Amino acid sequence: MDVSLIAPLVRGLSLSIAAKAAVGGDANGVAHGVVVASREVASTPIPGAAYKVALPIPAVAGGDDTAILAALGAAVPASASLPFLLAVTDEAKTRLFAVAPTLDEARLLLEEGPHAAATHPAGAPSIAAKIAQARQPGSAASRAQVVEGKIALVTGGAQGFGEEIVRGLVSSGAFVWIADMNAAGAQELADELNKESGRTVALSLPIDVSNEDSVRRAFETVASATGGLDLVVSNAGILKAGGVLEQDTASFELVTRVNYTGFFLVTKHAGRLLRSQSLACPGYRSDIVQVNSKSGLAGSNRNGAYAGSKFGGIGLVQSFALELVEFGIKVNAICPGNFFDGPLWSDPVKGLFVQYLKTGKVPGATTVAQVKAFYEAKVPMGRGCEGPDVMRALYYLVEQEYETGQALPVTGGQVMLN
Ligand SMILES: NC(=O)c1ccc[n+]([C@@H]2O[C@H](COP(=O)([O-])OP(=O)(O)OC[C@H]3O[C@@H](n4cnc5c(N)ncnc54)[C@H](O)[C@@H]3O)[C@@H](O)[C@H]2O)c1
Repeated sequence: MDVSLIAPLVRGLSLSIAAKAAVGGDANGVAHGVVVASREVASTPIPGAAYKVALPIPAVAGGDDTAILAALGAAVPASASLPFLLAVTDEAKTRLFAVAPTLDEARLLLEEGPHAAATHPAGAPSIAAKIAQARQPGSAASRAQVVEGKIALVTGGAQGFGEEIVRGLVSSGAFVWIADMNAAGAQELADELNKESGRTVALSLPIDVSNEDSVRRAFETVASATGGLDLVVSNAGILKAGGVLEQDTASFELVTRVNYTGFFLVTKHAGRLLRSQSLACPGYRSDIVQVNSKSGLAGSNRNGAYAGSKFGGIGLVQSFALELVEFGIKVNAICPGNFFDGPLWSDPVKGLFVQYLKTGKVPGATTVAQVKAFYEAKVPMGRGCEGPDVMRALYYLVEQEYETGQALPVTGGQVMLN
């Protein structure tokens, strides 16, 4: 029984049930606050009558999502209301799917059964009401609310821009998967955010975006723990500077593999979950946003591997946008300027400012502050790009229903579109 096939369909179905229950019946008004946690059990669980909705159905063989959806649709009545528990059984095993407004409620339902649901009333309607409010025409002031109750995933979320995005999304009410190859860093950040919030608002997810097996496993984990996703931020990226006359091929290929191929792999496996949700919930919209760079819009001297991977990323964004529009999936890029206060530039040991000081890249500079001032002076707005600048762009792209395949510069005027 492939959880990656079934869970997003269950989530999509639940989104459409929640949408029907909401005032106005707008699928995106309630494409939030629906978590589908699952767990495999040895045999069919406690008798159906004990559950709010208990539906043992035969698993559909062959991995045909339309056939699975038809079976699920026949089993789950449109009148079902959240939270509920669903049991999908094949000849050997049963997988329980708990559908609830938050991960904590879904987990409780999964572990303790329906009486847990009775003591934890559904939060979806209140979330839906808030979203409906945020979606009033001209509601830019409340733009951050567009992610409230959504399930997001940020690759490279343990530090730098990724960490800024994780913190921003959590503070705006999203649940966030912190997907990073630095598993310890991701876990530390998740622990901090969960402690602050007093509930589970983030989970760490080990992933190497350049390795397809790792990416596949990561999205299987996502499917079994939250059922699916609403927003994917493909942010993990690396930079290895070097001129074309000297750079070794291994460095060039590593940058390409992480920045370019990594975006392909994340879109491929995340996109399958998003597509399944949309099949089960017509009108549902979701977002894939690549954190690109100003170096994806203008060449970067002695940094061709990086700039090439980022220019290529925009080609992928445009192409994936054309392909996935059919499933309500928008694909866009944010192209930030330099994040001078982030670790890439400001790390006191390995940061670019220290390196440039040591190698005399900035003529006459004798301190890190002078090197920084030199680079800040290249920006018309006189400072580096920061987390909140990127968050504003992200909220805009999620809120904007009528745009896809775009690359949005956030560079303080340093790079302007032709
Ligand atoms: N820092 C800047 O000035 C700047 C400017 C424009 C765009 N960007 C882009 O922003 C993104 C983040 O950059 P940053 O400077 O915050 O980087 P960073 O080095 O501070 O953090 C990158 C994170 O990605 C993770 N990571 C690296 N390779 C990975 C892989 N293969 N799989 C999973 N995780 C991996 C790292 O563990 C780290 O947590 C990148 O795509 C970068 O190109 C950065």
